[in-house]
Amino acid sequence: MRRPVIAGNWKMYKTAAEAADFIRELKPLVAGAEAEVVVCPPFTALAAAAEAARGSNIVIGGQDVFWENEGAYTGEISPLMLKDLGCSYCIVGHSERRQYFAETDAKVNRKVKALLEHGLRPIVCVGETLAEREAGQTLTVCQRQVEEGVKGLTTAQAVGLVLAYEPVWAIGTGHTATPADAQEVISFIRGVLGSIYGPEAAEQVRILYGGSVKPENIAALMAEPDIDGALVGGASLKAQSFAAIINYRGKGI
Ligand code: PGA
Repeated sequence: MRRPVIAGNWKMYKTAAEAADFIRELKPLVAGAEAEVVVCPPFTALAAAAEAARGSNIVIGGQDVFWENEGAYTGEISPLMLKDLGCSYCIVGHSERRQYFAETDAKVNRKVKALLEHGLRPIVCVGETLAEREAGQTLTVCQRQVEEGVKGLTTAQAVGLVLAYEPVWAIGTGHTATPADAQEVISFIRGVLGSIYGPEAAEQVRILYGGSVKPENIAALMAEPDIDGALVGGASLKAQSFAAIINYRGKGI
């Protein structure tokens, strides 16, 4: 039984004080939720968010990381630093990083390995652009991103990953993939993992859907057998809507 994960990706929103206020508001709304609740604030708000979440069922994650522990890498943040601030998760390979910040599959792979070395759980994002979907390349693109992203991981490491399928055309656009479309790609991704690590290991990996997830569409997405949760952008910025997504009633909850 895979425990669902609902993760909020705040992107470049909220100051430290706003993050702490948000967490204080969210705490009572999601106490006792069966899904794992993850909030990923900007780096500058991580410490305040972690402090506000202490003793609750909300855990904190970064939105990106560099793979070295320390060194002359101006502007970068290491896995050790994320851990030091109280993070247990970190998003890697988000399409905005791939698109605007030259994140390649090889970089994603190095980041994933660095996080695992420090006991942080990566949320590895994959997904096709609109042009790739229209050219019929959805599955090829996702396969490449998954294979390259997990390259060199042991089965035990792979089982602990969280993957997120986020079609780029669905992010921040209001165009959600239909539950059936998301299920098709996510089950394909599970198959890709299965051909590397075996079906039993692949069955244990949590794979989320992301892209315009809202309180209104979460239950239908979660009703699909292979969708294990959501990576939520816009709707994770208000405690009420994020809580409504976390507290959907469906499979396992
Ligand atoms: P969205 O973003 O929910 O605002 O579409 C999702 C994401 O980028 O992770």
